[in-house]
Amino acid sequence: MSQKTWGGRFSGETDRRVERFTESISIDQRLFRHDIRASQAHARMLAAVGLLTASEAESIVTTLTEIGQRIEKGEMAFRIELEDIHTHIERSLIETLGDVGRKLHTARSRNDQVITDVKLWVRDAIDELDRLLLGVQRAYLELAIAEKDTILPGYTHLQRAQPVLAPHVFLAFVEKFQRDRERLQDTRKRVNILPLGAAALAGTTLPINRELVREQLDFASIAMNSLDVSSDRDFLIEFVFDLSLIAVHLSGWAEEWILWTTTEFQFIELPDAFCTGSSIMPHKKNPDVLELIRGKTGGVIAALQQLLILVKGLPLAYNRDLQEDKAALFSAFDTVAASLELAAPLIQQSKLRRESIESRLEDGFLDATTLMEALILQGVPMRSAHEAVGNLVRLCEQRRCRLMDLPDSEYASLVENVSAVRSVLGVKAALNAFRSVGSTAPVQVESQLERWSKQLA
Ligand code: ARG
Repeated sequence: MSQKTWGGRFSGETDRRVERFTESISIDQRLFRHDIRASQAHARMLAAVGLLTASEAESIVTTLTEIGQRIEKGEMAFRIELEDIHTHIERSLIETLGDVGRKLHTARSRNDQVITDVKLWVRDAIDELDRLLLGVQRAYLELAIAEKDTILPGYTHLQRAQPVLAPHVFLAFVEKFQRDRERLQDTRKRVNILPLGAAALAGTTLPINRELVREQLDFASIAMNSLDVSSDRDFLIEFVFDLSLIAVHLSGWAEEWILWTTTEFQFIELPDAFCTGSSIMPHKKNPDVLELIRGKTGGVIAALQQLLILVKGLPLAYNRDLQEDKAALFSAFDTVAASLELAAPLIQQSKLRRESIESRLEDGFLDATTLMEALILQGVPMRSAHEAVGNLVRLCEQRRCRLMDLPDSEYASLVENVSAVRSVLGVKAALNAFRSVGSTAPVQVESQLERWSKQLA
């Protein structure tokens, strides 16, 4: 008899080149735990509705557990003629149990089976990512607390803009990663709907009970359109979008810190264990990990595009094209998980170069906008205040000095209360003048540090 689960219809052997071209075992073998779990739930359900006897179901469940242990130990030889992980496991079951094994695939198709396995896998992947993202958030929080009073230049257009507290900068990333975690939880809702029972595309004439499978596999509800089930990859694309955005956040952070390590910036010292050297230039300490986190982001975004292009022209319901979804899914996940795993200790072990930051903090007119706001508080209309400070900055550029170095007369021509205006000059004073909710004002940052300390504990 043919090794193929579908051999009955065919007389000759499959061309070896076709087997090589169509196999997915090299990619989908990592679904084996989820495939076994779903098959065990399916077998128990088949017994409950009388399609298997209780003892048949029991021997299937037990044998599947043993098959799982064998795969775990690397004892199952994978063969491309058995195409995918689902066929390998079923074939192995039949080899052990004979006719009883031949009953497992009752009222099931690989079309609903594969997507059930993938959903179980994505559910676990979401939990793993949540744990990793939390690790990165905690690392940032730790650094934020360690650098509680350090002032950094804040940038727009990569030009010095306004002063910010270092913890305000680090907590900005904590916020981004929090949204990533929330997005994953939202995606999880659409992952958590049971596909199994849709069979090939139209359901089955056999008296299955999908609720029994839902319960065992801990899905929140049951997918109600079998055609939709066998064609739906929305949840998977959504998940890879979530991964893409995490990768983009990591990439932006990596870019910023790469700049910060340069002689030009000298803002941060990365841990040696997370940097590499040069084979020719003895002095080099290169931020390769950050560069690769930034570089690998391209592959994650490519996976998202690949998936969108994969499904864009597919008619209902299952089409073999869909088999290509898993390579993109796994590679996107692996890249993001590995990046997050490195990001946490790298952040935790990095140190700001406070002296070097401070030595150039008064460059770049970080207090100019605060000065403008001080003029506004003294009754100068905003547009006039903006223009006046612009003129003062131009004067400073000519005299190669800072706003605080200008004589009182320059301020006296603008407002009566010169000392009120002068009191916000200098980066430290300018920073302390902030007050709005969510700003870099020290009390605001302090309360955000408290909030995150509680939330991430
Ligand atoms: N290896 C296939 C996949 O991953 C399993 C589903 C095959 N279904 C089919 N009708 N040929 O998509």
